[in-house]
Amino acid sequence: MYNFVSILGEFSSIFNLSSYFYPVSFYKAIIRPVLFCFNPENAHDLAFRLLKLIFKIPGASLFSSKIFLVDDKRLRKNVFGIDFPNPVGLAAGLDKNAGFVQELACFGFGFIEVGTVTPLPQPGNEKPRMFRLPADEALINRMGFNNLGVKEMSLRLKGRKSRIIVGGNIGKNKNTPNELALNDYEICFRELFSLVDYFAVNVSSPNTPGLRSLQDKGPLLEILLRLQVVNDELSVTNKSSRKPILLKIAPDLNDNQLDEIIEVVLKSKLDGVIAANTTISRDGLKTSSDIIHHAGAGGLSGKPLGKRSTEVIRYLSTHSKNQFNIIGVGGIHSSEDALEKIKAGADLIQIYTGFVYEGPALVKKINKALLRSFQ
Ligand code: FNR
Repeated sequence: MYNFVSILGEFSSIFNLSSYFYPVSFYKAIIRPVLFCFNPENAHDLAFRLLKLIFKIPGASLFSSKIFLVDDKRLRKNVFGIDFPNPVGLAAGLDKNAGFVQELACFGFGFIEVGTVTPLPQPGNEKPRMFRLPADEALINRMGFNNLGVKEMSLRLKGRKSRIIVGGNIGKNKNTPNELALNDYEICFRELFSLVDYFAVNVSSPNTPGLRSLQDKGPLLEILLRLQVVNDELSVTNKSSRKPILLKIAPDLNDNQLDEIIEVVLKSKLDGVIAANTTISRDGLKTSSDIIHHAGAGGLSGKPLGKRSTEVIRYLSTHSKNQFNIIGVGGIHSSEDALEKIKAGADLIQIYTGFVYEGPALVKKINKALLRSFQ
């Protein structure tokens, strides 16, 4: 097996395949045009089904890692007590049920966030619920936490072979009233405690009615304080350390609301904030208003979100005086975008829409640029 992989490696270097993959050209010239012929959700399902098949070929994971992984100790970073091999992660929503952790790990990510998962399985909103805005390199989605439930996720994570760092992004079921949301977060937290490396508490999806009002100081503090009590309890019973908990926030919060977020994060001794989720704003888009109107309600992600997400990161970092860690996400489509997020105060970064538009080589591109920035 190893010989087969070495031969593939040799083949790739003789024909300079990795440099062909590196500038993202193979994905953008061949794979993306094919995928973009399908509606976005079908393209996603097709891509992931193919990925599963391809990675069944002996040596495929090693070959993929050889192409995409940048293994350099200068990229390693200890953030909230975890040693990340590199700071580029996959954002929540792409692998909602932790079904593809092993395959995604071969694209060079430093970590993968799975979910959002809810206690019970739920179908999400009616289809179509995901739309491309190619002129803006953006997506609009109103998936509505479609997922197989936390029990299924926990089974999948128990069976996983890859040791990549995994974050568990947890939410509440659509039918759970906000007064009882606390219980949903606790159920997910308990179920995944021994299976994930950190938690992301998602109170910021625009696609679950009322969810974003859980970002208000009162209910938010209640949820986070309860999770910290459970965190302490489970760390004793499991004889392990407590799990880092991060809060994922919307980019649509104003400065007063961001001040409250800082206050709550510090009061509940949270490890950090993930900034940001998708936006409900449609400002400054190049796409025609007809297409935007046709797509309808949902969260906007991708390039147009970049500027606002960076502003939120800078605000949190400056106003909290760096008292907690920040994962920067939103509109990262190039290494320049990634460096800008880090300059604004992000300790780690995540991508989603950039992965769809630029392909997996974006991860390598960012890591290579980071290495150059250290020189
Ligand atoms: C998302 N995102 C998301 N976030 C989250 O916390 N839980 C989720 O279930 C989802 N689901 C989801 C589905 C789809 C189709 C998209 C496009 C996005 C938000 C995602 O993690 C990220 O925060 C934003 O998309 C902004 O980053 P990008 O996409 O601009 O890199």
